[in-house]
Amino acid sequence: MSIIDEINKIKSNFKSDLDLLKLKKINSDEIKYKYLGRKGLVSNLYSLLSSVDNSDKPKIGKEINQLKLDISNEIDGLASNNKNQENKLLDSDYSLPGLRYNNGSIHPLTLIIQEIKDIFNKIGFSNIYGSEVDTDYYNFEALNIPKHHPARDMQDTFYLENDALLRTHTSSSQVHFMENNEPPIRILSPGRVYRNEDISVRSYCLFHQIEGLYVDKNVTFSDLKGTLEYFAKQFFGPKTKIRFRPSYFPFTEPSAEMDVYWGLESESDYRITKGTGWLEILGCGMVNPEVFKSVDYDVKKWNGYAFGLGIERIAMLKYGIEDIRLLYEGDINFLGQFK
Ligand code: PHE
Repeated sequence: MSIIDEINKIKSNFKSDLDLLKLKKINSDEIKYKYLGRKGLVSNLYSLLSSVDNSDKPKIGKEINQLKLDISNEIDGLASNNKNQENKLLDSDYSLPGLRYNNGSIHPLTLIIQEIKDIFNKIGFSNIYGSEVDTDYYNFEALNIPKHHPARDMQDTFYLENDALLRTHTSSSQVHFMENNEPPIRILSPGRVYRNEDISVRSYCLFHQIEGLYVDKNVTFSDLKGTLEYFAKQFFGPKTKIRFRPSYFPFTEPSAEMDVYWGLESESDYRITKGTGWLEILGCGMVNPEVFKSVDYDVKKWNGYAFGLGIERIAMLKYGIEDIRLLYEGDINFLGQFK
């Protein structure tokens, strides 16, 4: 058989294979391999070329090249056509499941902090932010907690180099703010705090607080109680019961802790309220004049109150979260619930 016959035979074979491809009886890789593969029918033609008369070689060579190009174009054209048709099908078949777009969600702690900020911003508190790395002076000394004061044991501290530490409470931001501003003051300072505690279901080495500070003339303990009661009713609902228990903080005098009555229904293991139904959510008190002295405020002229809210407790109770560690692990399945 001459090489010309061979070429024509390949052409007609390819036509019928192309029909099979259109009917999807074979796939485009198969047919490509059969004709254009290294040992395929077209490559074989090139080896036959050596037996052709020299004068005919250019013409026949060209023809083989053309055949190769045609075959490759036909196969590729058909393949992209098929893709388009599949896409069209996807566009118009309304019974197919839709595409899923994953939206992000807001972290439950961020949600709570935002809600609390909104409540206090409505009554004139503005937001300020302190730094998480601070010095012994701002975290302790200026807040009337001198070195070796037993109150330092209340807060296990992560110390860094050169007198620096990770703040153990947001109260440190009070001092920075008062150093740079004159009363009257109404601020809220949310943020992370760190304590060297054993990690368990209930405690973690970091958590979040919101500090509140109010400084003016003739501020009373009832102002403090009234403000916190307003907050509790806004946040937990108008029927919420609260109670104040006397407490001790070196930077406030007198000091108290505030509990919210949550009841026992939503607590599966009674561990959050220790079976009393009351949940402690904040520490508070009238600013100790010693603190005003360290920022050079006239203690005869100014007084005020401060409070520090714990966010994790509130989040755990509000959302029924039983393990505090879930709040820091970044598990999408957990976080995706808070849309
Ligand atoms: N800083 C205290 C704590 O972390 C809370 C507090 C803040 C108490 C302000 C009184 C006034 O426990």
